[in-house]
Amino acid sequence: MIKPDAVANGHIGKIIDQILSAGFKIKAMKYTKLSVETAGAFYEIHKERPFYNDLVSFMSSGPIVAAVLEKDDAVLSFRTLIGATDPKKAEEGTIRNRFAESIEANAIHGSDSNENAAHEAAFFFNRLEQF
Ligand code: RTP
Ligand code: MG
Repeated sequence: MIKPDAVANGHIGKIIDQILSAGFKIKAMKYTKLSVETAGAFYEIHKERPFYNDLVSFMSSGPIVAAVLEKDDAVLSFRTLIGATDPKKAEEGTIRNRFAESIEANAIHGSDSNENAAHEAAFFFNRLEQF
């Protein structure tokens, strides 16, 4: 997911270009906006974390781009491409190093396991919307 900060800052095109250049295939994509309720459900896994309320309000603050991507070893490969959660710690050239503003407004989300990737894909897309 391209997060509201990166969308608002005009980085959609550059981020998608970097993802495709890294060898990912797009299986599904949409431009949409999360509500407080849907952002809360998407990040339900973090419900008990101290940053949960701020995260939900940030993620529902503006439009996002949701996508399902395919590549060998996609989860690990994508997390390497996006860089560390805190952009100050993200390696040079990673998406968060290039485009993130802060540990919260960090430009992009990547699934952390195959199981969560399948769950998150189904959150945004039905089977007819994934190719
Ligand atoms: P994501 O799920 O968005 O890909 O990020 P991540 O795995 O790198 O980090 P995670 O621990 O899953 O945290 C989810 C998102 O919550 C916000 N966050 N804020 N204020 C804070 O200390 C803090 N820590 C995390 C970030 O937007 C992070 O991406
Ligand atoms: Mg995460």
